[in-house]
Amino acid sequence: MAANSWQAEDYDRAMAFVSRGGEDLIEIIRLQPGESAVDWGCGTGDLTAKLASSGAAVTGVDFSREMIERARSKYPNLQFVEADGQAYRTAKPVDAIFSNAALHWMTDAERTAASIAASLRVGGRFVAEFGADGNIASIVHALQKSAQLLSLGRRIVLPWYFPTPEAYQQLLEKHGFRVLSIYSYDRPTPLSGGEQGLQIWLDHFAGGVFAGLDQEEERAVRRYVEEAVKPLCYRDGSWTADYRRLRVAAVKQS
Ligand code: BEZ
Repeated sequence: MAANSWQAEDYDRAMAFVSRGGEDLIEIIRLQPGESAVDWGCGTGDLTAKLASSGAAVTGVDFSREMIERARSKYPNLQFVEADGQAYRTAKPVDAIFSNAALHWMTDAERTAASIAASLRVGGRFVAEFGADGNIASIVHALQKSAQLLSLGRRIVLPWYFPTPEAYQQLLEKHGFRVLSIYSYDRPTPLSGGEQGLQIWLDHFAGGVFAGLDQEEERAVRRYVEEAVKPLCYRDGSWTADYRRLRVAAVKQS
């Protein structure tokens, strides 16, 4: 059982679908040459580099040291900062903030929204996509059920924030944004790794869930989740996770 939640090279190899899933957001934010922007939760920097090819000055920010080190080694001409997106603030307000598949890790959504708002100039654009209410519902349900059945009580903690569009719009408005567009949609996502796909996904994305368990308990939860999710998400030797995304475009008004 790998304990390598954030080993960045392995992440790049097995989780390339994460940044591929966000490529069309780049069309929405439409960075212009000379603009300044932040990629909020940039991972290993692939989308930061695509954003920067517009001619804008883009900084990638991520909480994970391994991700930032890998981003710097892949894209030595770009700027990357190791920082917590729940608290980070740019030195000067920027023209645009972009985020793909990252905000669901920032469970203090209130503080994150305040940080994003403080880092954008008035009139600046915010475009993001992340997990919506109902994201990976089969996995979430199986984890919760396993905690009950295996008497693990509150020792299984789900470390993700998956809001409804209504709740997220309210949060942004409270922080001075005008929401131009917000919706959620199903995006079934094939996982790499063939029949090991779900376990590999858990290695990378559910490390925190198992943090309070011993090895035997973790093994039992993983087994339970695999059996419970299989009828819904496994077919012909590969897994497809039931992703549901929230996509938002907003402008900072005040
Ligand atoms: C997601 O991209 O939807 C996701 C990533 C990690 C954990 C949960 C969901």
